[in-house]
Amino acid sequence: MKKMKGTRDYFGYDSKKINYVFNLLDETSKEFGYEKIITPTFEVSELFTRTVGNDVDVVNKEMYTFSDKKGRSLSLRPEGTAGATRLALENKLIDNNQIQSFYYISNMFRYERPQKGRQREFFQFGVERYGEDCLMVDTEVIQFGISILNKLNIDKYELQINSIGSSEDRIKYNDALKEFTSSRLDNLSDYAKEKYNSDNIFRIFDTKNDNDLEILKDAPSMIDFLSKESLERFKKIKLTLRQLEIKFIVNDKLVRGLDYYNDLVFEFVSTDEENLGSKSTIIGGGRYNKLVNKIDSSKDVPAVGFALGIERLILASDKFLSKNIDNRIDYYIATAHDELAMDWTANRIAFSLRNKSYSVIVDYRAKKLSKKYDRAKEIANKLIIVGNEIKDGNITIKDLKTNETIEMKIGEI
Ligand code: HAM
Repeated sequence: MKKMKGTRDYFGYDSKKINYVFNLLDETSKEFGYEKIITPTFEVSELFTRTVGNDVDVVNKEMYTFSDKKGRSLSLRPEGTAGATRLALENKLIDNNQIQSFYYISNMFRYERPQKGRQREFFQFGVERYGEDCLMVDTEVIQFGISILNKLNIDKYELQINSIGSSEDRIKYNDALKEFTSSRLDNLSDYAKEKYNSDNIFRIFDTKNDNDLEILKDAPSMIDFLSKESLERFKKIKLTLRQLEIKFIVNDKLVRGLDYYNDLVFEFVSTDEENLGSKSTIIGGGRYNKLVNKIDSSKDVPAVGFALGIERLILASDKFLSKNIDNRIDYYIATAHDELAMDWTANRIAFSLRNKSYSVIVDYRAKKLSKKYDRAKEIANKLIIVGNEIKDGNITIKDLKTNETIEMKIGEI
């Protein structure tokens, strides 16, 4: 039997790499004062249709939805913001006057066409900050993303920002977009036509068709439809980013593929043709002040956050990870011949080294020492040979990098 298309196994070096990244994300979250949450892998489907949106691909095309034995419609989470917000509300962790900062590292599920950096099951790291409608928080969340990229030596990216204003702004914009699109409909893809005919023409920007994207380049700019308040806010964010020397470009066609955003949306888009392919989004996020209210209509809690695809992060930082992850264990202990395999000496040495936090493997196999040596060379820094010298209380240690060999007393190691 084989694994399903779009899923993957982690073992060996890949498992080391992903764990290195998990730890780095935990550490960075601690630095920013974010608390880890874990939500269930599946939720009622309505959580996603109500928040992420009914017309968005992530929900209506890509979600793994099934009925349970009681006939309830459930879905594997396609993203983390809806679940995090549900958790916060259900456990009464957010209110109008409370600040909360959460992060998660979870597997997500989307029925997409798999390709490099795009899977059907993938890991996401996400951060969600509730309780303030403040552009300094928006900026801090962006800095959070930059901090992760810096730590992994990723510098081939572009920070793109846009403002999609309020829902009222978007209604006005949708009319203008409809007018623009109607005269070009014949040249657009079926996907774009479908969006044109839906209640949410805004989603036309989710098209991946190059020809559609070319045509949409001339579409009216959302920025011209922003209310005074949203425009002012966007100007201030740009100013703050400049003051903090954070490089960005404004992409007025950036709308993000999820329905819950308002005002600021942003993406860190890769320009690394070699490792990830350019145009691949590593991080995506934005402000979502109306989402809480969609789950609990008695509450209005502003929020902002982002998520990143961990597999994409690994592809983008592959060279750095290869250099920095020590894939070798510290000691490989080999017994020199069969009679010594059952001797307690190797076991005792391993125990004492592990107590000192060294990584140790003992090879008890009844195999020739040369075979054990070959394996040690592959995976360890040092080889300890437990041979006949143990009669005199000695062992042999071989440094597998320099080939230097020394004999020493068991008690000295
Ligand atoms: P998203 O843009 O849908 O946003 O996903 C965020 C990131 O997850 C993407 O930029 C990408 O790196 C990764 N990703 C998405 N789909 C796949 C896939 N099929 N395979 C591999 N990686 C993938 C969200 O999910 C929002 N919840 C982000 C957010 C948090 N906004 C506010 N708070």
